[in-house]
Amino acid sequence: MSQTGLQGSKEREQWKSRVGFMLAALGSAVGLGNIWRFAYVTGENGGAAFLIIYLVCVTLIGLPIVLAEFAIGRKTQSDAVGSFVKLAPGKPWVLAGILGVASAFIILSFYAVISGWSLKYLFGYVTGELWSTPATGYEGFFSDFTASPLEPLIWQSIFMFFTIGIVLAGVKKGLELSNKILMPALAILVISLAIYSVSLEGSSEGLRFLFSPDWSAFSDPNVYLAALGQAFFSLSLGMGALITYASYLSKKERLPGVTVGVATMDTMFAIVAGVMIFPAVFAFGGEPGSGPGLVFMTLPNIFNSMAIGGVIGLAFFLLLTAAALSSAISLLEVAVAYFIRKFNWSRKKATLLIGGVIYILGIPSSLGYGLLSDIKIFGERDILDSLDFLASDIFLPLGGLIIALFVGWGWNKAEALKESDLGRTALGKVWYNLLKYVAPIAILLVFLQASGLLAFFGLGGE
Ligand code: PFF
Repeated sequence: MSQTGLQGSKEREQWKSRVGFMLAALGSAVGLGNIWRFAYVTGENGGAAFLIIYLVCVTLIGLPIVLAEFAIGRKTQSDAVGSFVKLAPGKPWVLAGILGVASAFIILSFYAVISGWSLKYLFGYVTGELWSTPATGYEGFFSDFTASPLEPLIWQSIFMFFTIGIVLAGVKKGLELSNKILMPALAILVISLAIYSVSLEGSSEGLRFLFSPDWSAFSDPNVYLAALGQAFFSLSLGMGALITYASYLSKKERLPGVTVGVATMDTMFAIVAGVMIFPAVFAFGGEPGSGPGLVFMTLPNIFNSMAIGGVIGLAFFLLLTAAALSSAISLLEVAVAYFIRKFNWSRKKATLLIGGVIYILGIPSSLGYGLLSDIKIFGERDILDSLDFLASDIFLPLGGLIIALFVGWGWNKAEALKESDLGRTALGKVWYNLLKYVAPIAILLVFLQASGLLAFFGLGGE
């Protein structure tokens, strides 16, 4: 027994049941992306207009590619890179897998930094430090903490320690506990907090921000790129995480149901989290566009206004950290699965080495809020935000583009349909055409528009 909820040791591991696979995929999808990232990216991109484009991206681009990744992984029983080598030896499709492994390194490096922040807040609610407003306010607390050179690195290392530990030892119980109990608990808590948030005075402005679009935002090309990137990030899509997880699936499972289940739950989580956060942002006089610190500065205000807010805050950051952990495990697994196969490393060697390298890679992201705060890379973005942009908004959609093109143009059509479990049904046709035409064209248009090329040729944009 050597891994994340999987059975077997010498043989290639397998999930024990369909539910196990579904929960693992859901555990990967639901994480900081639904709460931390969804909130701050929505806040920076105009609210409702962003949300609408995001939902279109999830449905027309995300859903079909999720099923594509599942089908590829289950068919090949191999990792992100190995899958393409098996299905199309010597062809350039393998680029999707290589980009995927690179994205796993980048995303986990900063994911662990934010997860470390969540741990720090958990600790703050355990000790009582955050039960009442700190002298500098919750904003001041956040910026002082993130600006200190050492402390965030310590929390980040504790989080990586757990991530590595689980991928290493395959504490099946750990994943099960997280996915079967803690995730539903987080869902209930987020729903309750959303209801509470809506009841706050001044909350209606937040709801308007989230649901009533400012039409002018639709003419900003960056909003499309941000929504596309968020859809990929939130669904754990475009980097082979779902290929890798599906590779541990026995051949008899049916994939379309799992696909729809994962995408629906993941999206609902994000919307409810939005309803939890934005009314509070406005009710407490915050700024929706305040960046990666948004939820860390907003949520403590909600807890502070509640009778037993300290306990709720504690529960919230505990569950958020658990959700982050089950996503981080899948990120690490993408890289580990690749190195084990490619270089014949043991799971132990691969996990320790890669986990260590990823931890070190994350250090500049953390220091970007303090010592290295003068460094801006893409536009006004700090180091963490820049890496996030590169991996989530560029690499993931690019990986998704290649996967869609592979299924539509590179793979045998009959085999693709059979492996998707859709076969010759009408839905199968829809799925296939979404991958062959709609998703690739949409992704390309978003890229072209964001790069300014469309405008350059006089074809729209700004
Ligand atoms: N989907 C995760 C989240 O929303 O937090 C993040 C993630 C996990 C992205 C795994 C990509 C991935 F492969």
